[in-house]
Amino acid sequence: MEIIQKDKLLNLSGKTAIVTGGSLGIGYGISYRLAEAGANVVITSRNLEEVNKAVEELKQKGFKAVGVKADVSIEEDIKNLVTETIKSFGSVDILVNNAGMFPFAPLSQLTSELFDKVIATNLRGVFLATKYVSEQMIKQGKGGKIINITSIDSLHPSSIGLAHYDASKHGVWGFTKNVALELAKNNIWVNAVAPGGVMTHGVAVMQSQGKPVTVERNPDPPKMEVAMGRMGVPDDIGKVVLFLASEMSSYMTGSQIVVDGGYLLK
Ligand SMILES: NC(=O)c1ccc[n+]([C@@H]2O[C@H](COP(=O)([O-])OP(=O)(O)OC[C@H]3O[C@@H](n4cnc5c(N)ncnc54)[C@H](O)[C@@H]3O)[C@@H](O)[C@H]2O)c1
Repeated sequence: MEIIQKDKLLNLSGKTAIVTGGSLGIGYGISYRLAEAGANVVITSRNLEEVNKAVEELKQKGFKAVGVKADVSIEEDIKNLVTETIKSFGSVDILVNNAGMFPFAPLSQLTSELFDKVIATNLRGVFLATKYVSEQMIKQGKGGKIINITSIDSLHPSSIGLAHYDASKHGVWGFTKNVALELAKNNIWVNAVAPGGVMTHGVAVMQSQGKPVTVERNPDPPKMEVAMGRMGVPDDIGKVVLFLASEMSSYMTGSQIVVDGGYLLK
């Protein structure tokens, strides 16, 4: 048995992680935990101001981080993201596909434009980042970890009005399993984390727009809805992503970890 000291099991020093949508909400929670574990973190989102703010916050803690503006649905942006990551840190070892959107729209109000936009961000974005980052990982020849943030909606609908979202997240879960199979020979492990309701900026924005509150986005769900009696916080997801990014998950690929406080048990 290879003995790895306890404090090394979660140590990501010398590794570089890209976190898409890493400036806010769940993505920031993930960026924080990976940076704290010693990784160089590349934070990316469409909004450069938000990215720079998140990078500054991490740097103030003494962590290593850079920001790159990228829209995950645009192929050229993803190619540039990989190039900039290599320029900054020389390699990429961990990819967290977190960027996503969840606009509420019952089928009767769901336009083909909105459907396409959600699929382009949530599913095509995961495809593009996985494609170009795994190509780089294969070139580097030292394996890697890819972690896709799905949702409990990849397994079971949490509310009506999210058919487009559920289609995208079911797609990401299927994509995760197939790619895990394909990339295993390159020592690239591909897993997913399925959050339940987590109070984030995206959720707050949705609520401030007066949109109907869904189970997944209710900041104060009835206690009986979530077994643990509370909504999640970004760090609940960040800690599980750290586990999947680390040596702690050495024999895991093609798995999805549900992190929902027991919501699906209801
Ligand atoms: N919050 C929840 O309750 C919840 C539950 C289950 C799953 N999720 C998933 O977790 C992920 C993060 O959700 P959140 O609640 O933190 O969202 P959020 O809206 O608070 O943050 C999303 C981040 O993704 C970025 N982003 C969105 N579209 C992008 C694009 N095209 N290109 C690049 N960046 C883009 C945003 O700029 C932002 O930084 C999403 O994939 C979401 O589906 C969230």
